[in-house]
Amino acid sequence: MVNPNTPALGSCRLISALLSVLVLALVAAALPRATPAQATPAAAATPPMGWNSWNKFGCNVSDKLIREIADAVVSTGMKDAGYRFVNIDDCWQVSRAADGAIIVDPERFPNGMKPLADYVHSKGLKFGVYTDAGRMTCEKRPGSYEHEVQDIQTYASWGVDYVKIDWCYAEGLEPPVQYAKFRDAIAQSGRPIVFSICNWGVKAPWTWGPRTGNLWRTTGDISDHYDRMSVIGFSQDGLEKFAGPGHWNDPDMLELGNGGMKHDEYLTHMSLWAILAAPLLAGNDIRSMSDETKSILMNPEVIAIDQDAKGVQGHRVWDEGPLEIWVKPLADGSQAVGLFNRGESPLPVTLDFNKIGAPSSAKLRDL
Ligand code: GAL
Repeated sequence: MVNPNTPALGSCRLISALLSVLVLALVAAALPRATPAQATPAAAATPPMGWNSWNKFGCNVSDKLIREIADAVVSTGMKDAGYRFVNIDDCWQVSRAADGAIIVDPERFPNGMKPLADYVHSKGLKFGVYTDAGRMTCEKRPGSYEHEVQDIQTYASWGVDYVKIDWCYAEGLEPPVQYAKFRDAIAQSGRPIVFSICNWGVKAPWTWGPRTGNLWRTTGDISDHYDRMSVIGFSQDGLEKFAGPGHWNDPDMLELGNGGMKHDEYLTHMSLWAILAAPLLAGNDIRSMSDETKSILMNPEVIAIDQDAKGVQGHRVWDEGPLEIWVKPLADGSQAVGLFNRGESPLPVTLDFNKIGAPSSAKLRDL
């Protein structure tokens, strides 16, 4: 919260804020106009937004769950807020046919994938699946190794819009080489499938990811704990130069609403991911989420920071003890500023407009 004694905008140079949690502020000012966002033919001109089954449901996926989630994306307002992808993670596949075709779990997905994709599309949403570049998925389902083209063709025939490709059981394989096979297969398929590389930062995917996929995981898995979420989120500083429209660093999916963090901690999670221009894949049971979770996941102004057309990932501009200030330049010339206190107790923090390149006279808005 911004100190109410702070003189109103206009002549102030310094703003003092007493923080116990992050305050996300937008400095709209007489800054020089930024260059317009670069046009990109990629399927992820802004960071992908949607939902993924893994964080909440693990292997407990089914046709029924995915249909209910698709319904809830619409009825809760998530779709209107910008969440579009409904993505099934690990465990939908069980084996391969004699011709190598992937076989969908007949008990959990009795209709097969095409009717499910059609259902998701009928809601105005997009449909995603998961596979692994190695010999097996992390849950020991068949991997796509040596079936790269065949699997992508199958996904395209179902109407898949997004594929997340993991890196389990890939011993001896080279990530840039293996992932490029999927890139080429997607290009051949003619379908604009968003390509999510999930190899946990192995072999610096930010260096080859931009020419390979639309997003790449930068770390190991997130969990629904403040310590893990914050270590991942705050460690993204320095990677900003590799991200941009069509190609994004991925600090992993959201844990918001799964119950393991406090309100302020989930605010930090969402605000930090927005400053990072991170993909926003909700990972909770959106059929039954609380109003509190909804208000954080669907805060339109915070989502607008994440989705800003300039496509610049924010970075840390200052830190002292547990305090950090992060800045993300926006397309209209304003800046999103994150004031974070990573400590346990409230502390004052000062935002010096000079340090973020803002003029002495600027408008400030707490989002
Ligand atoms: C991990 C991945 C998770 C999830 C899981 C499924 O490697 O990082 O996001 O996909 O595999 O088994």
